Amino acid sequence: MRLHRWLGVDVRFTGAAERSSVDAGIAAVTAELRAAGRRPYPVPRGGATPLGALGYVRASTELAAQLAGMAEPPTGLWLATGSCGTQAGLLAGAALTGAAYQVVGVTVSRPPAECRDRVRELAAAAASLAGIGAPIREPDVRGGWIGTGYGLPSPAGQTAARLVAATEGVFLDPVFAAKAMAALIAECRAGRVHGPQVFLCSGGAPTLFAGEHAPAGPGVFELAPAGARGREAR
Ligand SMILES: Cc1ncc(COP(=O)(O)O)c(C=O)c1O
Repeated sequence: MRLHRWLGVDVRFTGAAERSSVDAGIAAVTAELRAAGRRPYPVPRGGATPLGALGYVRASTELAAQLAGMAEPPTGLWLATGSCGTQAGLLAGAALTGAAYQVVGVTVSRPPAECRDRVRELAAAAASLAGIGAPIREPDVRGGWIGTGYGLPSPAGQTAARLVAATEGVFLDPVFAAKAMAALIAECRAGRVHGPQVFLCSGGAPTLFAGEHAPAGPGVFELAPAGARGREAR
């Protein structure tokens, strides 16, 4: 928000708590701008379009180049899945590069079945845009890691984030990467992961400094009490 304000962006709020209200808001503003003779370029939530997914097709080729020098190829590529464009791009990218790894998305917002449909559709459309003819695998989306809700840190996610910070010096954001890492760690501990894994941290660093996630003890982060959280809105 600070950067948006800095750039003089005209930010509109829908006034509704449901995130889906943004879809209708985008359509309304698009119509308003068109009526005023402007040429808007509507971007849906998450930038989840076939064109948007091409960024991660490109990332897959970059990853393939990095992995080429590894003795043992990874069997899995893990990431957090929200609006599904990232996973779709990586899935189409895996087809393009002939990667042996399974692209595993851990959903942090939508139900897994809805994600699978979205990823399948977006990956096929991105592949067609990029001229990728190779078959695309069925999306692998894992559920059960959202916690209380989208955007809210979960105890499992924060424990995983603290472990990774302490052992690797990598700080995972509480909304996306922390929850995906919690899923990966649990799968490893359950003995269901074999071979090297790639974990994609897709960003989210600004949320490390939002809210008040004070460390409450070894391996546990605590959410600020409800009364204190209003201050985050400033
Ligand atoms: C840091 C971060 N990681 C992952 C995602 C989710 O990616 P996607 O919406 O493409 O599934 C988002 C989406 O906003 C994000 O901000």
